[in-house]
Amino acid sequence: MILRITKHGEPLLKRRTEPVDFSALRHELPDLLQNMWDTMYAANGVGLAAPQIGVPLRISVIDTRPEGKPDRLVLINPEILLREGKVLNEEGCLSLPGLYAKIARHDTVRVRALDENGQAWERTGHGLLARAFEHEVDHLDGRLFIDHLDLGERLKVASVLKELKKQWA
Ligand code: NI
Repeated sequence: MILRITKHGEPLLKRRTEPVDFSALRHELPDLLQNMWDTMYAANGVGLAAPQIGVPLRISVIDTRPEGKPDRLVLINPEILLREGKVLNEEGCLSLPGLYAKIARHDTVRVRALDENGQAWERTGHGLLARAFEHEVDHLDGRLFIDHLDLGERLKVASVLKELKKQWA
């Protein structure tokens, strides 16, 4: 089911999410994940965090579609194990539609998480995947990409945001 995406300014996006007790959530998880995938793909996103559909739990999904092929990653209780190499690149977020800004992130990021079956996995991402790992884990800690901007850049973005917000549902 495609759900409404929470927008910047709504309190849920600023909150740290709760870790998932996998066995307690097991029965609700398939529907929750399906809703996250449906909502993410419908919005042409490469990642979505549970608070973006109103669920304050430590769950994100990512599909950066390398070479146009699906690469679906479910991140339950993700932890970042390693961050290396800085890179500045343009970034956006489904919770701030229409806004893009250059954000410094790490070029190599290793993550450990549980998948949809409760199995632990680890993976090292580079480039866009590394950026998605950091962006989606940030969401689970109540941070948006604009929180990485310095004061001057944030002021520039503020006026753009004010106009954009009028178009958001
Ligand atoms: Ni986002």
